[in-house]
This record gives sequence, C-alpha cells and structure tokens, in this order.
Amino acid sequence: MLFDFTYYNPTKIYFGKNSLDNLSGELANYGKNVLLVYGKASVKKNGIYDKVMTVLESAGKNVTELSGIKSNPTYTQMLEGARLVRENDIDLILAVGGGSVIDCSKGISAAAYCEGDPWEKYWINEEPVTHKVVPVGSVLTMAGTGSEMNGGSVITNEEKMLKKGRVFGTNLYPKFSVLNPEFTYTVPKYQMASGIFDIFSHLMEQYFSGEDDNTSDYLIEGVMESLVNSARTAMKDPQNYEARSNIMWCATVALNTITGVSKSQDWEVHMIEHQVGAYTDCAHGAGLAVVSVPYYKYIYKYGLDRFVRFAKKIWEVDISSMSKEDAALAGIDALAEFIKEIELPSTLRELGTTEEMLPKIANSTALGGGYKQLSVKDVLEILKTAY
Ligand code: NZQ
Ligand code: ZN
Repeated sequence: MLFDFTYYNPTKIYFGKNSLDNLSGELANYGKNVLLVYGKASVKKNGIYDKVMTVLESAGKNVTELSGIKSNPTYTQMLEGARLVRENDIDLILAVGGGSVIDCSKGISAAAYCEGDPWEKYWINEEPVTHKVVPVGSVLTMAGTGSEMNGGSVITNEEKMLKKGRVFGTNLYPKFSVLNPEFTYTVPKYQMASGIFDIFSHLMEQYFSGEDDNTSDYLIEGVMESLVNSARTAMKDPQNYEARSNIMWCATVALNTITGVSKSQDWEVHMIEHQVGAYTDCAHGAGLAVVSVPYYKYIYKYGLDRFVRFAKKIWEVDISSMSKEDAALAGIDALAEFIKEIELPSTLRELGTTEEMLPKIANSTALGGGYKQLSVKDVLEILKTAY
C-alpha cells in the first residue's frame, strides 16, 4: 500500500538531439561566473567541450575550469572545486560528464560555503545543507547513475579509504540537465554496459524490499523491461538512437526517485560495491554486477515471493512446474546470464580485488538490507562467493 508522501523534483530536463540548444536560455538565468567541471579526456576528444564552450562564450560568461575529475570522484578534487568557487565568486557550476562529474559538482556546491569539515558534516553525519549553495546544471555524457535528476553525491575519501554516498535535499539537485543520447555514442562499450547494469541495479535495489501491492513495483518492472530490451540492441548496435535514448531515459527515471515513491528499499548491493570501489577503483556498474548475484543468492529466501515474481515477469521464466525456491533461483540465474550477455565481469578478482582486501571491505561496508539485515560476517560470506 502507498503510505502518505510528498513528491517534488525540481530538475528541468531537456532531452533529445537538439537539447543543447536550450543551454543558452538556461545560462541567462545565472550570473557571469561559471565553473565548468569535466572529466579526464572524453569531452575534448568527442567535441562536447567545444560545443559547450561555444555556448558559454557567446553568452559572455567568465569560465573557470576544473578538469580531470576521476571516475569515483575524490574528496581532494571536490575541495579544490570548492576553493575555485569561493575565489572566483562562481554563480553556476556546469557539470559536463557522467555521474562522477555531476556528483562532484554537487559536493563542490555543498562544500564551498560550509563552515567546518564538509566530510564530517555532510557525508558522515548527513546534516542538511542550510547555508548558501551555488546552483548546479549538467550536460550528461554517460547514462547510468541518475545523478542528472537527483541529490546523490558519491565521493571517495582516499585518506579514509571510504567511498560514501550522500543524498542531498532538492536545493542541490541540478537546476537543469541536458540529455542528448547522441553524446553517449562515444562511451566505450564496457562503460556503456557498466552504466546499463547500474540502472538495472538501482531498479533491483528498490524492487527487492517489501511485500505489499505497490504501484512503484509495477513502474520498476516496466523500466526493467525497457532497459533489458534496449541493452540487447545497444550491445549489438551501439549507435542505435532508439536504444541509446531509451537507456538514457531509463537511467534518469530509475533514480530520480519516482520509482521508489512510498516504498521500502534495499541498497545493500550498493553499500558493498562502494567499498569494493574504494579498494579497487573499479567501474561502479561492473562492481555491482559482480556483487549482485552472490548477494541475491544469499538473501532470496527472505523475500521468496518477490524473487519468483522477478523470474516470471522480467525474465519470462516458465515457473508453472517449479517450486518457489527453484523459480526464484532461475530468476537469479537469468540475471547472471544477462550480466554475461552485456559482457561484464562476474568475479571480484577480475576487478583487481585481492583476498587480503576482503575482510577490510567487509568491515568498512555500511550494513543494512532489504529482506535481511546483514552483519559483517554475512558481507564477508558474500564477498568470498563473489571472489
Ligand atoms: O573522464 P572522462 O575522460 O570524461 O571519461 C569518462 C569515464 O572514464 C567516460 N565517459 C563519460 N562520458 C563519455 C565518456 N567516454 C566517452 N564518451 C563519453 N560521452 O566514462 C567513464 C565513466 O564516467 P563516470 O562519470 O565515472 O561514470 P558514471 O556515470 O557511471 O558515474 C559513476 C559514479 O557515480 C556514482 C558512482 O558510485 C561513481 O562514483 N553514483 C552516483 C549516484 C547518484 N548520484 O545518484 C548513484 C549511483 O548508484 C552511483 O553510486
Ligand atoms: Zn549505482
């Protein structure tokens, strides 16, 4: 059943082949000083940097650049951005990139005028941000995280060996996001698949919790179905606009909080992956792919009916002559097949994890769960199976 809720998402989305045409109109809403944040090399190679710069120049903006944001953005880079915001009296932070660049930009905005230690305040104690923040806008170049329309900011604190997510309030959601599916054509296949699995994982994290009859679960199933269908096309034909545009919108919808409305959720696969990422710097979606199957095999008995429904509805397993147990496992096996189909790894070893890392990862993982509350021992068991 749906419990009482308030739903509000302030991000304006411009979607499609001509969506960048809307950037100049958006820029007119902000002052002269723009911090342009981007990743290592892709936007310069594929021409997106030049396109955005042309718009910024013709709008007469003073542009300060922060480049080289890493996949799994670091706290050090975020603090560097915060310093640039203060020194250049920045009016708008424009993130041009994937989730890492957008997450980092939100973190920069929260940290710029923070009194005290932003890590402790915002990532550890999860305090609300009540001081001045600088608006963030985005031009998305890689589909996966949903950061373009949410308050998430996942930052890696290298000194503390912690990769930690924070969901900020709506004051830190991007004010606008430009989504041109063609901008994702140059994303390498492995990164595309990683993004696809990240989307699928966001949907599973919301789906595998609760037993009630809830509209959100039906929405999730619809997005899962669309994603699997388009993923199969995009793996064979990466420049297929229909598939890439569906994948891009699936990513946004899967984590702009609409599919999780009034619903209990899990997120333990993400908690485990974040620490795998802190130790290996792996691509986020690839890490999720490795953790998911062992995790779901470990907990499915506690949410048996939902796993049976997953097998039947998403993977069209003929469960008519199966026990519930076999049907649930067949659904998880189909998930493992899908991971193979999109050419992602299935072991921690392939991500560069060593055996010595396993207890460290388990000890530093935030504990929760959907159908089963996990202990450190449980996480270690899952990691050993994934190894
Ligand atoms: O750095 P460059 O050279 O730009 O290359 C990037 C990077 O190597 C490349 N890339 C991006 N767009 C491209 C492109 N290459 C060619 N053509 C393009 N158009 O792709 C690589 C990965 O980019 P990244 O931004 O790191 O990927 P993603 O979007 O998957 O973001 C991952 C980060 O987001 C966090 C993850 O934990 C990870 O740190 N997440 C954020 C969430 C949120 N805000 O809600 C939720 C997610 O669950 C996730 O945790
Ligand atoms: Zn994710």
